[in-house]
Amino acid sequence: MKQFYLETFGCQMNVVDSERIVALLEEIGYRQTDSAEQADLILLNTCSVRDKAERKVIGHLGRFKPLKDARPELIIGVGGCVAQQEGAAFLDRIPYLDLVFGTHNIHRLPEMVAKVERDRQRCHAVDFLDRETRLRLFPKRSDTDSVTRFVTVMQGCDNFCSYCIVPHVRGREVSRPSGEILAEIRELAAAGVREVTLIGQNVNSYGLGTEGEVSFAGLLRQVAAVEGIERIRFTTSHPKDLSDELIDCFGELDKLCHHLQLPLQSGSDRILRRMNRGYSADDYLRRVERLKKVCPDIRLTTDIIVGFPGETEEDFRATLEMVERVRYADAYTFLYSPRPGTAAAELEDDTPAEVKQERFDRLLEVQNAISEQTWQADVGRVLPVLVEGRSRQGRGQLFGRTTWNRIVNFAGDESLIGRIVDVRVVRSFRNSQLGERVAGDGDAGASVSFG
Ligand code: 5AD
Ligand code: SF4
Repeated sequence: MKQFYLETFGCQMNVVDSERIVALLEEIGYRQTDSAEQADLILLNTCSVRDKAERKVIGHLGRFKPLKDARPELIIGVGGCVAQQEGAAFLDRIPYLDLVFGTHNIHRLPEMVAKVERDRQRCHAVDFLDRETRLRLFPKRSDTDSVTRFVTVMQGCDNFCSYCIVPHVRGREVSRPSGEILAEIRELAAAGVREVTLIGQNVNSYGLGTEGEVSFAGLLRQVAAVEGIERIRFTTSHPKDLSDELIDCFGELDKLCHHLQLPLQSGSDRILRRMNRGYSADDYLRRVERLKKVCPDIRLTTDIIVGFPGETEEDFRATLEMVERVRYADAYTFLYSPRPGTAAAELEDDTPAEVKQERFDRLLEVQNAISEQTWQADVGRVLPVLVEGRSRQGRGQLFGRTTWNRIVNFAGDESLIGRIVDVRVVRSFRNSQLGERVAGDGDAGASVSFG
C-alpha cells in the first residue's frame, strides 16, 4: 500500500484541513506513516501568519530533497496558507516540488496526486472558490474515537486587520448553515464526543450577512441543547463583535466552558487604530467587565503583538497596563513581522529590533508572573475534569482538561475516558497540572454512556 507523510503547522483551521487531507488520501488508497523516509507522498500543510513563513517552509522542504534525489518517484507537495500565497511561483523556486494546493483546493488533492503519479507532471491549484462551492465543501468528519473535537462553523475573514495575512490567504467569510453544524454535532455526540470547540477565524460574526441564519449566540444555545455534548468552547473571537447576547451565554449555558480567548493585540488606542481593529482599549475593558460580571470565574487568554510599526514606549506601556488590569490566565505574545501584501507592510517601521525585543521580554515577564499566580491558585482545589485519554506521562496516568482549558494529568482507570470527574490539583507546572482523583466524587457525566 502507498504511504503518505503529512506535517501540519499553524492554527486549528489547519488541523481540521489536515484531517480532511488524511481522509481524501485514504480514499485513494494511501495510508499515513510517521516516517518521511518510508513515504511515497510527502505533504506540508503550512501557515503564513507569522515570521518568514516562506523561508521556513523552503528550509523544511530541504530535508526531503535527499529523499527525492534517491527516489525520483517520491511526490512532494505543499498546501495551506504559504502555498496559497506563493502559488505556481513555488514550483519555480523549488525544483523538486511536485504539488502546490491552496486553502480552497484541498478537495482537488486526489485528482492532483493522480495526475502527478500518471503523467509525472507538476501541478498547482490556488484559485479561490465561490461561496456556494465553499459551503458545499465545508470540512466535516464524524468518524472519531476522541472525546473532544473541533467543528468548523465559519471560514475566512473580512476584517483586514492591517498586519494580518489571513483575509488574503483564506478569502472572505462564509458561515456554514446551522442545520448542518448541528447534524454533525449530533453525530459526534453519538460517536462518543463529549466536548466540541466551534472554530472559525472570527466566530463572533457567524451568520452575519446570511439571511435567516441564527447569530453565534443562537448557535451556541442550539449546540448546548444537543444531548451527550457536555462541554462547549469556541475560538477565535474578535472583541469588536463580542455582543452582549454572546457574553450573556457564559451566564446562561452550563455547558459553555469558563474560558475565552480574546485577542487584545495592543492596549494603545493609537496602535489599535493603525491595526484597524475596530475597538479602543476602553471598549475592550467594558467587554471584559461584562464577562466577569456574568461569569465571575471566567479566565481569559489573549494574543498580543509587540513592536507594531510606530509603537512608542508609551503605546507599549498601555499594553502592559491592560495586561495588568485584565490579568489574563495566559497570553500568546508575538513580535510583529511584516506580511507581504498586508497594509501594515507598507508602514514605516523605525523601532530598532533591540527595543522591540526588550519590550517583548518585559511583557513576557509581567505575563508569566500573572499566569503563574493564576495556575498556582488552583493547587488544593477540586475541579471537574473531562477525561480525554491516556496521558503521555504514561504510568497509568490519564489526562483531561479543566473548564479553563488547562491539562491535568492524574492516575485513573481507562474506563473514566469520556467522563467528567472531580480531580484535586496537587501541583501546577507551566503547561499542565498534576492532580489526584477525589474518591466518591459526584461524577457528573457518569450517567452518560460512552460509545
Ligand atoms: N506579526 C506578528 N504577529 C501576528 N499575528 C498575526 N499577524 C501577525 C504579524 N504580522 C498574531 C496575532 C494573531 C495571532 C494568530 O498571530 O496576534 O491574533
Ligand atoms: Fe487576521 Fe484580524 Fe481576521 Fe483575526 S480578525 S484573522 S487578526 S484579519
